[in-house]
Formats: sequence, structure tokens, C-alpha cells
Amino acid sequence: MKFFVDTADTAEIADLAATGMVDGVTTNPSLIKKSGRDIIEVTKEICGLTDGPVSAEVVALDHETMMKEAEVLRKIADNIAIKVPLTVDGLKTCKALTNDGTMVNVTLCFSANQALLAAKAGATFISPFVGRHDDNGFDGMKLIDDIRLIYDNYAYETEILVASIRHPVHVLESARIGADVATMPPNVIRGLFKHVLTDKGIEGFLKDWEATGQNIG
Ligand code: E4P
Repeated sequence: MKFFVDTADTAEIADLAATGMVDGVTTNPSLIKKSGRDIIEVTKEICGLTDGPVSAEVVALDHETMMKEAEVLRKIADNIAIKVPLTVDGLKTCKALTNDGTMVNVTLCFSANQALLAAKAGATFISPFVGRHDDNGFDGMKLIDDIRLIYDNYAYETEILVASIRHPVHVLESARIGADVATMPPNVIRGLFKHVLTDKGIEGFLKDWEATGQNIG
């Protein structure tokens, strides 16, 4: 499973990229606001930190303006994936862009039928939001399960990019289901490394090692 970082914080991306765990980045208008930076400037810097896809989102609601915004965003770098909302105009834009060879991430997906539409529109990625689904009393992981089944039934190549991940259990369940990508906030990626028994084990080994009085090398 590929790991994307869900942030526009370039220091965080650079730090996590150094672990070798980062396969791409996703951003959205709220994350750009949080960064406090210009969208073009910060997205360009992010594209230089990873060879993988970097999602940059359009904000227009109509197809024509979405295409104009996509034109600006895709010029930033070769690894840009244009993010469009799951609406009629968003999917029209998805079809036009993918026909043209541009990667497209269809975002704000909350049903398996919506995911089916995105696959039919040729989306490179579909982003079902599991955390927001859970927050509203639905089962986010059931959504991922349904999309996996439907995409496999018809051999759709659209990659399932699990979004709105809140904790490591979402990541574990995504991997069990066979999602293609998980996009996570930096703290969730860091959380995957941690286990209390790993820390305890290191502590014990170091204590015993010190008692031997030896050095390696
Ligand atoms: C994904 O591409 C979205 O940017 C993101 O995962 C949304 O997460 P949130 O629900 O925590 O805002």
C-alpha cells in the first residue's frame, strides 16, 4: 500500500520523506490555508520533495472554470494530480483531464455509487473520506470494502486512496481490505512506527548492554 502525506507543511513532508515512507502528498484548500502560503509557491515546493503524485485541488464549481484552474495547477510540475470534487462538473472535468493524460484525484467521495461514477470517468484516484464518514455515524471502512469489491468486479484501474484517516486502525483496515493508497496526517504516519513493547525492549537491551561494558567497533 502506498503512503501519501495529507499536509501542505513542507517541513513535515521533508522530515517524513527522509524515512522512505512517503509515496506522494495530498493537499486541499483547508491545508493550504493552514500553511499560510501561496498555493502555487507551496505546491511547487512540495512537488520537489517527492517524485510521487501531489494532489492540488481546484476550487471552482463549474466545469469551464475548473478546467482553467487545472491548467494553472498542472503547469506547476509533472507530478501534479488535479483534485476535483465528486459533482457532475467535477466528473466532467475528470474525464477531460484524464483523456489528456493528466492524473486526477476525485475527492469528497461518501458512497460506493459515487466511487463507481469516478471510475467510469477515468479517475486516477478516488478519495473516500473515512473519518468524516465515521464522524457522521456511518462505517467508513465498510465504504472502502464496498468500493474494493465493485472495482475488482469490473477491473477498474482507479486507485482507492483512503482519505480523512484519523488513526492507525484506519490504516490497518485499509491494508486488510486492499486499498491502494492511504493518505495520512503526519502524526498518524509517525504513530505507525510506535509500539510500547518496542520502546520497552530497547530500554531492556540497552540496560543489559551497558552492563557488559562492551562497545561495537
Ligand atoms: C484528502 O485528500 C483530504 O485532504 C483529507 O484526507 C481530508 O481529511 P479531514 O477529514 O481530516 O479534513
